[in-house]
Amino acid sequence: MANAPELDPDVKSPVALGSGPHSAPGFDIGGQVRVAHPFVLAPMSGVTDTAFRRMVQSASGGTVGLLVTEFISIEGLTRTNLKAMMRMAFNPIAERPLSVQIFGADADRMASAARIIEAAGAQIVDINCGCPAPKVVRKGGGAELMRQSDHLAHLVESTVAATKLPVTVKIRSGWSADTVNAVDVARKVEAAGAAMVAVHGRTRLQLYTGEADWSVVQAVAAAVRIPVLGSGDVATAEEALWRLQTCGAAGVMIGRAAIMNPWIFGQIDDLVAGRPARAITNQHRLEALRHFRDMMAERMPDRVIPGRLKQFLARMTKGFAHGTVLRERAMRAQTTAEMFEWIEGFFDAVDHDRLDAWVETARSRVPSAAAL
Ligand SMILES: Cc1cc2nc3c(=O)[nH]c(=O)nc-3n(C[C@H](O)[C@H](O)[C@H](O)COP(=O)(O)O)c2cc1C
Repeated sequence: MANAPELDPDVKSPVALGSGPHSAPGFDIGGQVRVAHPFVLAPMSGVTDTAFRRMVQSASGGTVGLLVTEFISIEGLTRTNLKAMMRMAFNPIAERPLSVQIFGADADRMASAARIIEAAGAQIVDINCGCPAPKVVRKGGGAELMRQSDHLAHLVESTVAATKLPVTVKIRSGWSADTVNAVDVARKVEAAGAAMVAVHGRTRLQLYTGEADWSVVQAVAAAVRIPVLGSGDVATAEEALWRLQTCGAAGVMIGRAAIMNPWIFGQIDDLVAGRPARAITNQHRLEALRHFRDMMAERMPDRVIPGRLKQFLARMTKGFAHGTVLRERAMRAQTTAEMFEWIEGFFDAVDHDRLDAWVETARSRVPSAAAL
């Protein structure tokens, strides 16, 4: 379809399509949790809530190996703060295995948070050591723990002692370019009882700029016995498979690419099986948007749903001809129903070659849109 963005042609190292199955075995975490597919949906604050996770898992035909919550404050969780409880919400049947990610710096509170997570029925407790936000780092949590690795080891030990669930850790490559210490940190948390380490190949100071350094992932994978996940900049199914095949890690995390392409895990599965990655149609896009809306409607008032849908719609329709007109119309929608009228009209026009007429109507409905 002319209007649909193609899979990124800039494949780092082409996977030989149709040449037969590729090897992408699953792995175990702490001898307790089986990750059947080694591709994991990365935690993303403000994005990967239960509605989003379920939408991605469904769009990808159940091939996401592990789902991780947004990071949750141990202070909030142990005080049953509403935001923390909302962030921990999950569907125990549709989301399995599920890891609940927490952040903070107090060992007793982290242990209590782990007990709450275990009681809630999740499968894994994950400690965040990557968040670069000043308000988190200032209080000793997130990426600050990359500089306080002895304290991090203590946190891991006391959390492991508090729960029967495997405790895992998500780190960055280090604090800064001249203090890259992911290997040391990974060894320490392994010795403290961590059952898996995920490595985002950027430093705290890089935030999300530059490129993720996968040589750090490779070095960590070579240095520890526990499973390692690599994270950073995986844009396509081909790239995900190439990373798995070349970085030596047990699995690969995919974050931002899954917002644009929630079918990516299913596409990886296609490649693994030696099939071309499934083509995504506007019907798939509509289904995903509707599913996401329905999942949100289970737990949020209608007035907040358009805001969440906009974020997803903007990424999903990036690169579409006249996608800006759709986004502009959708941004102004007051209700979910109104938003869907625009979305459905747009995809219908694309599929029936009536886009020019749709754009004209869209612009005439709101005069200021003529400037688009
Ligand atoms: C909007 C956003 C929110 C994020 N929130 C979290 C988080 O809550 N916990 C965490 O460990 N990492 C978080 N990350 C980092 C991702 O998990 C991932 O490591 C990073 O985005 C690199 O992977 P990607 O290029 O596949 O997105 C976040 C990233 C983004 C873009």
